[in-house]
Amino acid sequence: MSTLSVHCLKPSALHLPSGIPGSPGRQRRHTLPANEFRCLTPEDAAGVFEIEREAFVSVSGNCPLNLDEVRHFLTLCPELSLGWFVEGRLVAFIIGSLWDEERLTQASLTLHRPGGRAAHLHVLAVHRTFRRQGKGSVLLWRYLHHVGGQPAVRRAVLMCEDPLVPFYQRFGFHPAGPCAIVVGSLTFTEMHCSLRGHAALRRNSDR
Ligand SMILES: CC(C)(COP(=O)(O)OP(=O)(O)OC[C@H]1O[C@@H](n2cnc3c(N)ncnc32)[C@H](O)[C@@H]1OP(=O)(O)O)[C@@H](O)C(=O)NCCC(=O)NCCS
Repeated sequence: MSTLSVHCLKPSALHLPSGIPGSPGRQRRHTLPANEFRCLTPEDAAGVFEIEREAFVSVSGNCPLNLDEVRHFLTLCPELSLGWFVEGRLVAFIIGSLWDEERLTQASLTLHRPGGRAAHLHVLAVHRTFRRQGKGSVLLWRYLHHVGGQPAVRRAVLMCEDPLVPFYQRFGFHPAGPCAIVVGSLTFTEMHCSLRGHAALRRNSDR
């Protein structure tokens, strides 16, 4: 494993953009960092949507989130998103919101329910030229550590097509059965993941 992969796998403090509680404030940089992980802002929406459109529209004709929905979630709950920037360029992202029911429903596609105990991962996507290099895995581990460190969040939920079920199982997700949400002719499996282990890992790694 390369030094870069080792470095990226180790959870560390996230850079929160200014305006988000807990942000250290924007600092002047003379060079763009090789790798930066931070929560996304509404200003990142266009970059997010560009990756999403290529990843999904060209394949299935549908995007999990349209541009307005991306902006909506990045305005309401930026702390439930995470982007990976390489030399300032967005290469992978996750957008989430909170959900307060046991299972996902059609309403969960567009709603953020503050007070919900589940982080609903609406979309994980990696830029086409960076796929199958471990980036999606690294970002998902970091995201689970990140949301697992938020005391109110107990679990993560998502829906995916069947070929991706084994991918998510590697991170502690398990299939909860067919998802009630249907998009056109597409059907999904609902995946659930307890975040207790991820929160404990985060506490240990902070020592
Ligand atoms: C799915 C995705 C996020 C994975 O990110 P990644 O950086 O390419 O994945 P990693 O390199 O960390 O892991 C690779 C493993 O993921 C799994 N995987 C990746 N893409 C897959 C796909 N389309 N179908 C099934 N498994 C897939 C495989 O197990 C793969 O291992 P392999 O290369 O040995 O076969 C990325 O391919 C992507 O953005 N795809 C388009 C958008 C998408 O489908 N998002 C998921 C929505 S639920």
